[in-house]
Amino acid sequence: MIRVLFVCLGNICRSPMAEAVFRHRVLEEGLVEKIEVDSAGTALWHSGKPPHEGTRNKLDEVGISYDGMTARQIRQDDFDRFQYVIVMDEDNLSNLRAEYDIPDHVVVKKLLDFLEDNPEKNVPDPYYTGDFQETYELVTAATEALLREIIDKNE
Ligand code: 4NP
Repeated sequence: MIRVLFVCLGNICRSPMAEAVFRHRVLEEGLVEKIEVDSAGTALWHSGKPPHEGTRNKLDEVGISYDGMTARQIRQDDFDRFQYVIVMDEDNLSNLRAEYDIPDHVVVKKLLDFLEDNPEKNVPDPYYTGDFQETYELVTAATEALLREIIDKNE
């Protein structure tokens, strides 16, 4: 089983959006038995909460389910379970490196690094920008590139 964990700060805006979009595509591709997906935040603040209203509205609009998704904080043992830990921005990356012991075999990368020729390297945080559409478009393009990479590597 390939396990992918999306990580942002609060686990209510960006990483649940990435989880939902990626999970939707995994379902469409018939890969639910092969690829598992989850998301977490580096902060504990929103533990137990559903995705932010802006993320829910965007996902409702495009018909993507976020059923069963609630916020949680990342834990050390996530690095034993997940082979891919995909963060939204540079701050997430430095938080993880400062707080956790990251085994060498775990791929820890920024989501937008999967997009070739993309000048934007951090997924804008709609908690602050209010622009859930911009975030959705970047998340959709980059999760698709990630899925293609995982499929190609495991064929
Ligand atoms: P996220 O956005 O990391 O994309 O979930 C945020 C959510 C909550 C807060 C900050 C960012 N907050 O300060 O509560």
